[in-house]
Amino acid sequence: MKKIVFFDAKDYDIQSFDKANEGGEYEIKYYETRLSMDTVSLAKGADVVCVFVNDDVGADVIDALCKMGVKLIALRCAGYNNVDIERAYGRINVVRVPAYSPYAVAEHAMALLLTSVRRIHKAYNRTRDYNFSLSGLTGFDLHGKTVGVIGTGKIGRIFIDICKGFGMNIICYDKFPQENSGLNYVSLDEIWEKSDIISFHCPLTDENHHMVNGDSIAKMKKGVILINTSRGALIDADALVNGIKERKIGAACLDVYEEESDVFFHDRSGHIIDDDTLARLISMPNVIVTSHQAFLTEEALSNIAETTLNNIKQFFETDRCDNEICYKCQKFGGCPKKHQNKCF
Ligand code: NAI
Repeated sequence: MKKIVFFDAKDYDIQSFDKANEGGEYEIKYYETRLSMDTVSLAKGADVVCVFVNDDVGADVIDALCKMGVKLIALRCAGYNNVDIERAYGRINVVRVPAYSPYAVAEHAMALLLTSVRRIHKAYNRTRDYNFSLSGLTGFDLHGKTVGVIGTGKIGRIFIDICKGFGMNIICYDKFPQENSGLNYVSLDEIWEKSDIISFHCPLTDENHHMVNGDSIAKMKKGVILINTSRGALIDADALVNGIKERKIGAACLDVYEEESDVFFHDRSGHIIDDDTLARLISMPNVIVTSHQAFLTEEALSNIAETTLNNIKQFFETDRCDNEICYKCQKFGGCPKKHQNKCF
């Protein structure tokens, strides 16, 4: 029986994976701790390590996993910026869950936008205190506003469809625009200059790290709303704070934050937050922060568990590996092997 060592396990993960593994096909050992050089020894004896967005799967950790004979890194998420896939290439295979519920993330992005624009978070707190005043709650119509969508993959396209339902004008930017999609692709500068709202749905890469910075903020419309459900480091958080303080940015809706790994997913109430930038953002009335919860729906959790166990089964029992990610596929647009087979 293959042994899976599962890092950063939460109660909802354990429930969904135990359900998907009802027949007891795999031995799963759950650890609450995250994978890092300090904890990698827990993977001793494992065939697979199962990790999430904030586990550290850098070069040293990969070396240690290879030394222990671990065969597979199974990401239970779509993004893999936390994995050094170049170091892994040729030594340890990496699989992921490319889509668990793109609807979950796109719907959360719209939930954040509506909450922000219609001040729902403020109204909720007020009425609980029997304060029925409307002062300061004026919003604006989404209808007719221009939304710039960066990344037109699975999540981006669903978000676009939702925005269409609101009667918004949609402009898009993608590094690899989809031909004949009917989408209105424009340059990144046009996104900054023309959008009333900008929503990020692209992966984080070396190239787009801090794509929102002092320079891009300077090009944006006054009062622009930024929605980030993608990866925190797309936005330079200090530049964001400055942009809000200068009244250039009208609001920010953040499900991700560049230094989230130290705080998100944990109950930090009763603690002093060391991260001054995050504390400042949370203190601002026009910033809404959720702690990387966009994916968190029942449908997504059960898809994550089933796809992860299928990825593992396929890897060990067949030549195929549909959801493999590898350095060569990413960097050079193709592995020496056929696409659906294992990359090495
Ligand atoms: P996808 O792979 O279907 O689409 C990504 C799109 O981004 C593609 O069209 C691609 O061409 C484009 N792209 C790649 N590099 C780009 C660049 N430098 N600039 C602009 N566009 C670029 O991915 P999907 O499923 O739509 O997910 C998007 C992102 O959402 C993921 O990479 C992940 O970071 C994030 N995500 C967040 C979750 C959350 O809970 N907050 C859950 C799942 C995903």
